Amino acid sequence: MRTETRGKTITVKDIRDRKGGEPLVCLTAYSTPMARALDPHCDLLLVGDSVGMVVYGMDTTIGVSLETMIAHGQAVRRGAGQACVIVDLPFGSYQESPEQAFRNAARVLAETGCAGVKLEGGAAMAETVAFLSARGVPVLGHVGLLPQSFHALGGFRTQGREERSAVELHHDARAIAEAGAFAIVIEATMEAVARDITAEVPVPTIGIGASPACDGQILVTEDILGLSGERVPKFVKPYADLKSGLDEAVAAYAEEVRARRFPGPEHCFGAKPTSRAAGSGKADGSGEGPLRRVTIKAG
Ligand code: KIV
Repeated sequence: MRTETRGKTITVKDIRDRKGGEPLVCLTAYSTPMARALDPHCDLLLVGDSVGMVVYGMDTTIGVSLETMIAHGQAVRRGAGQACVIVDLPFGSYQESPEQAFRNAARVLAETGCAGVKLEGGAAMAETVAFLSARGVPVLGHVGLLPQSFHALGGFRTQGREERSAVELHHDARAIAEAGAFAIVIEATMEAVARDITAEVPVPTIGIGASPACDGQILVTEDILGLSGERVPKFVKPYADLKSGLDEAVAAYAEEVRARRFPGPEHCFGAKPTSRAAGSGKADGSGEGPLRRVTIKAG
């Protein structure tokens, strides 16, 4: 329940102020209809570069372009009402220099109307986070498993298992918090490490396969809805199996088309209503029922 913020747009300041308070509810979104559905329930919608894998069938997020992120950012912004919308900066759009990051982040903010950007990396990105934050670009940090470093990490692996990696993660989180990140995503990280980081940094942590101690949680929406196929990470809890519903609906449509039961007269312009169509609308589209939603003008 978002008691303090309900009814108004949630800002990055609202998100930052939730440190240690009511857990932040965050999900990914890539489209207008999905943003509309998620918005009433979420504090933050992330237009993640996971769009490359979830929507475009890529193996990693590395091939996602800035233009793709801007297009999906615009779509989500159109559907969002009160949730704070943040857009991922894709691989190659910010790592070169703080100036490159600012140029591309400014495009994202100006062209999508979103509230901030997310970028991956710890201490190595601190200078960039400081550069953007000082110039009016709110930054959501991202430490732990960094999907854009898939090749460098040797795959999608849980982080913070060894002492050295745990120490490095603390250092990374501290560095970007000090640089001005308004919150930090911690991905696929040993629970004790995420818990300690959460206790240590002054900004909210948002866990994805991290720890219930994080100040909020985020997951890929398609994963929790059962729309991502068989292989989902261990940290995903499925809340629905929409794939089965989708299969059933499409099979029913296919069967009706093959049997010439669809379209019925109620779905046609100028067709004579039959007893099947009676009560569900006039066949010329002028009455109540399914055809009242048709906006295309006949003839
Ligand atoms: O791209 C993405 O969706 C993300 C979240 C999984 C945190 O970075």
